[in-house]
Amino acid sequence: MTIKAIFVGFGNVGRTLCKEIFRCGIDIEIRGAISSKGGVLIEEKDDLKALCELADRDLKLDRHPKFKEGFEVEGLVENVKPDLAYISLPPNYITGEPNKTIYRKLVDAGVNIIIADKTVLALEYRDFMDYASRRKVFVGYRATVAAGTPFTDVARGLRGREITRIKAMFNVTSNYILSLMEEGLSYEEAVKKTVEIKLAEPDPRMDTHGWDLAAKLAIITSILGENLGIHEIVREPLEKVSQSDVARARERGQRIMYLGEADLEKRRYYVGPREIPLSHPFASIRGMYSGLEAIIEGDRMTIIGPAGPIRRTALVMITDTLEFLEWHAMRS
Ligand SMILES: NC(=O)c1ccc[n+]([C@@H]2O[C@H](COP(=O)([O-])OP(=O)(O)OC[C@H]3O[C@@H](n4cnc5c(N)ncnc54)[C@H](OP(=O)(O)O)[C@@H]3O)[C@@H](O)[C@H]2O)c1
Repeated sequence: MTIKAIFVGFGNVGRTLCKEIFRCGIDIEIRGAISSKGGVLIEEKDDLKALCELADRDLKLDRHPKFKEGFEVEGLVENVKPDLAYISLPPNYITGEPNKTIYRKLVDAGVNIIIADKTVLALEYRDFMDYASRRKVFVGYRATVAAGTPFTDVARGLRGREITRIKAMFNVTSNYILSLMEEGLSYEEAVKKTVEIKLAEPDPRMDTHGWDLAAKLAIITSILGENLGIHEIVREPLEKVSQSDVARARERGQRIMYLGEADLEKRRYYVGPREIPLSHPFASIRGMYSGLEAIIEGDRMTIIGPAGPIRRTALVMITDTLEFLEWHAMRS
């Protein structure tokens, strides 16, 4: 049976994923896409060709010749009756909207989902996963946490174990800013450089105010069995760290890093700048790497692996797709 898929969000991740689906020759039919202003229904070969051209040329969906302004997810679902939706919407951790409503509409229609956007799992992992499971809907979410390394698989493999603490180094942007400060740049100069090389958005607060890291910490901790929402995590912004703080830490044999911590015994959760000794496995890390430390039955496990860039996120969504195809084959 042919799997019909749609894209909900056709930005950096959606376009890159579109290219990778064709490069990998995955046996699914792309039947439509939605962006912020409207969408496209793929009805003929030429429609698909035009979508692939947009992906190749990194152009927005509204440049598609069949783009219909105001066309929304309900219309796409009604027309296509998709088996699968790839969701790559921008996050909104304050209200959760429109992401929450879009996710629920898809699940209510029995559409399986593979997501890069962290919003819904960061706000209400347990509620949403239960909701999806009651409707027998597959949720692929590997790309939500530091996509290049399978941290979500590691967390799933640790369920039921005695885990007392975790430490997460899941935000490359903040740690890159700190490494520039170690080289002598002020906080403002380091942020400016990070924006220039496009490692941070022009408004970098999603990273420097800890939202991105807190979302990932909430997801990993929830996979381990806690029912943790992002708003239960204390967040301290990166800008409270000065260049002299960074230099003084260095003199004491410490490094300041932007980390997430969960004390699972005391149910205390924190994201912010932390000093760690230079001997700690995280302290030697530079560049596009992420790390997870867990204290398991009293022993320390540390995993360090690659983070983004966007192509890795797309490839991880391919991993989810392969798992979905197996899951689907077993049920049909
Ligand atoms: N970039 C990465 O490496 C990476 C890695 C892991 C996870 N993520 C997550 O993946 C998500 C997408 O990232 P991205 O870099 O692809 O973002 P992006 O380039 O900003 O793309 C977002 C897409 O969502 C569309 N959109 C916005 N509001 C919408 C709405 N109400 N209904 C339908 N579509 C809507 C946008 O439409 P327009 O085209 O009209 O703007 C755009 O196509 C984010 O949640 C991000 O945190 C990203």
